[in-house]
Amino acid sequence: MAENSHEKMLAALGVTQAEQVAALFAQLLSQATTELQSANSAELFEKFRVQWLGRKAGVLTQVTDNWLKPATPDLKRAVGQEVNKFKAQLEALVEARKSAIESGAEEAASAKDRVDLSLPGVVRPVGSRHLIRQVLQEIEDIFVSIGFSVVEGPEIETPYYNFEALNIPEFHPVRDDMDTFYVEAQDGFGVKTAPGSLLLRTHTSPVQIRTMEKQKPPVRVIVPGKVYRRDNPDATHSFMFHQIEGLAVDTDITFCDFTGTIEYFVKQYFGPSVKTRFRPSYFPFTEPSVEFDVSCIFCNGSGVAAGGGTCGKCKGSGWIELFGAGMVDPAVYGFVNYDAKKLSGFAFGMGMDRLAMLKYGIDDIQVFFQNDVRFLKQFP
Ligand code: FA5
Repeated sequence: MAENSHEKMLAALGVTQAEQVAALFAQLLSQATTELQSANSAELFEKFRVQWLGRKAGVLTQVTDNWLKPATPDLKRAVGQEVNKFKAQLEALVEARKSAIESGAEEAASAKDRVDLSLPGVVRPVGSRHLIRQVLQEIEDIFVSIGFSVVEGPEIETPYYNFEALNIPEFHPVRDDMDTFYVEAQDGFGVKTAPGSLLLRTHTSPVQIRTMEKQKPPVRVIVPGKVYRRDNPDATHSFMFHQIEGLAVDTDITFCDFTGTIEYFVKQYFGPSVKTRFRPSYFPFTEPSVEFDVSCIFCNGSGVAAGGGTCGKCKGSGWIELFGAGMVDPAVYGFVNYDAKKLSGFAFGMGMDRLAMLKYGIDDIQVFFQNDVRFLKQFP
């Protein structure tokens, strides 16, 4: 039978007996089954569906129009039954094929998305906290454990807080050691600050004043932060560095409390074998003032380098200066309305970068600020 038998009338196909009808439909179904098997994509399947089941000119419609409608009364019943059977079989075949194609597409898609756990992973570099941050955390932990709290203050200061309220009047020679960067700033209305009225703070000591202005005694605070000076860079100097200020004020604080606190901190931070000493010094905002030294960790306080000769780190003295400190000068209390007759206290200001250098054996402060990953990676 020709493939396009459905376009012809039954008589033209030689079908005149009811017994011939079933064979005719069986052939048509077999043709549909073969074609459907090769419809192995969504596009081919859709083409097949329109070709066979399309309402206007699909094979089923043509079979109804060409075979059923014009069938002679002898054949009508048999053709009608076969058309219904054929329709049900064809629809079942189409439905089955449709599900097969859809699940095949899903499988293909999920195979594409599947994660292959046997592939080597992508190693992403994980950063770590900067050594200065780590040291800051260590120092904070020690002081917090003995009752100090942590406060912060602005990096852009007024000369009043940076100098005057710390008993450093204009033209005081100590200002020479703390030459800094002056900044011009604009307020929200575009008004510029007067030249010289704002500066990058040279130390964290202004936060002593800001804290005492806000808080009644007793005061026990530490103040970490960045400070700035017009210093030329070398192995131990940077124009931006980190300090950690300490201030304790109460009615009965003595020099003994001061030395005890500092020694406790240093032994906790460097270990119990480190030796310490105080030397007389001068700061306008402490009286008496001291410099605090620790025994050189590079030569164990001997002053002699490992390979013989003078230790370059402590210049043969066996001691390294760590920070300045002292008992708060009563004149400072006058600036914050504290009663100098009833109160006493101590203050200190440590260079955090130098504390980090000493503990971790780093001989150049500049490496902290060069962002060289080879250096940073050594302190995960
Ligand atoms: C001061 O800054 C005082 N405010 C400290 C102080 C506070 C004294 C409270 C009394 C009471 P000094 O200028 O010495 O002091 O600086 C303190 C520490 O900062 C130094 O011991 C040193 O460790 C560090 N330091 C100073 N200049 C630099 C610099 N250019 N680069 C890195 N560290 C520095």
